[in-house]
Amino acid sequence: MNNNHYRHHCNWKFDELRPNIMGIDTEVPLLTGERVPYVFLDNGASTPTFRHAFEVMGEFMPFYSGVHRGTGFKSILATQVFDEAHDIAGRFVGADLEDNAVIFLKNTTEAVNKLANRCDWREGDVVITTLMEHHSDDLPWRKHAKVIHVGVDDTGYLDMKALREAFECNKGHVRFLAATGASNITGIINPIHEMAEIAHTHDAYMFVDAAQLAPHRTIDVLSETHPGHIDFIAYSAHKMYAPFGIGVLIGPKEYFSHGEPDMVGGGVVEIVETDYVAYSSPPASEEAGSPNVPGAVGLATAIHMLQSVGMDTIAAHEHEMLQYAIEQMKRVPGMRLYGPVETAALSNKVGVISFDIDGVPHAKTAAILSAEGGIGVRNGCFCAHPYVKRLLQYDEESAKTITEEILAGDRTNLPGMVRASFGCYNTLEDVDRLVTSLQRIAHGDIQGDYELHRQTGTYWPRGFDYAFSSYFPHFSFRPTTEITEFNEAS
Ligand SMILES: Cc1ncc(COP(=O)(O)O)c(C=O)c1O
Repeated sequence: MNNNHYRHHCNWKFDELRPNIMGIDTEVPLLTGERVPYVFLDNGASTPTFRHAFEVMGEFMPFYSGVHRGTGFKSILATQVFDEAHDIAGRFVGADLEDNAVIFLKNTTEAVNKLANRCDWREGDVVITTLMEHHSDDLPWRKHAKVIHVGVDDTGYLDMKALREAFECNKGHVRFLAATGASNITGIINPIHEMAEIAHTHDAYMFVDAAQLAPHRTIDVLSETHPGHIDFIAYSAHKMYAPFGIGVLIGPKEYFSHGEPDMVGGGVVEIVETDYVAYSSPPASEEAGSPNVPGAVGLATAIHMLQSVGMDTIAAHEHEMLQYAIEQMKRVPGMRLYGPVETAALSNKVGVISFDIDGVPHAKTAAILSAEGGIGVRNGCFCAHPYVKRLLQYDEESAKTITEEILAGDRTNLPGMVRASFGCYNTLEDVDRLVTSLQRIAHGDIQGDYELHRQTGTYWPRGFDYAFSSYFPHFSFRPTTEITEFNEAS
């Protein structure tokens, strides 16, 4: 198998990545009326697009056609491209393609749901997961089994002793150990191979949610004969510079060869009679309906670009940014940083920094960074409520009070932090822009009058309108001032 489709540009250099980011020079409005280049520090949610991935998709589109079983030139070409994209996505994490199925789905969330839906659950089954998980690697399991959340220490590290104890206490019942490769809150990288060894000792499968790890580090699931191999892994293209609606689940073909696929319809069968169905082999059996072929092209191209630059080069750059950002942020008065901040610990952390400033609500900090700094971050609990509450040291009583407030429609005291997350194309100058704005916020040097909207928990600068339609005229936007009114009323 080779990467012939990408032969025309196969030697990407690290310095070529930033200019290849779509929208890297986009200017956005500030409260002052100025326009400044946007600093995008929300890569942990979704990354912007590699232009090359978009262009290769564009080159593919004249050949776009339904895959599998079409007999025309375009269908045969598209089928080969789609099949090869599966192989590229599998090889990206070192999967043995003989024994493993590479299944294309929408995203990591869909992947975990499928994995959980496809298990032959038995009465009393247990899934061990961690308190660090994104809800996508927690809630799907809860539908099928008893889920045990192994705790973390005050910095956010997984308690490995508690993990071992959880296995001991549930001997014979644990089907999966499901853990994130890297946290989307603290950036902590879990010792996934050591964890896999523990799982295998107890005859459980190891699943790694690699949504946050895959864009930042080399992953090797290792061969099945290695005690620390990863049985199942999932990741999302939209966090890897290819936001075209595709994600990947990889795992033993054998696992997907029993029982019925969780979603059925066209594309998953060999033969259908009115009273009989024979399903295809995986991955086809697990990819019901017409697939996202252009998305697969985009993902494969982005993977190729990352691999061509080298994941180690990317990791080294992100490490430098992380170290610099943490050093600078520590100097901001009232700054609280969550997760590991010691230099020695940073090599085991991806480029995610969660923080808040004493006395300034996290939502307000995020709003000011946007309206006065032209900086995109994210705030709140980042779909990992239990972990954030643990890091914020909420006790049971206060967590309960806040839950009641939220359920009553008041998000004034919404727990949370602000998160700055880096991509491979961010620079030390981006960090400087962030830190300059944070210094201003910490010193109360703020221009806007920020109003809290209780129902949403968001802050908006009074009277400011982002005037979206002057940037993107194809849709009819409501003025941002009206959005806030709507939020209050709805
Ligand atoms: C650690 C982690 N797991 C899973 C997900 C879910 O990914 P997706 O939204 O692509 O399904 C995310 C997304 O933020 C994440 O950070």
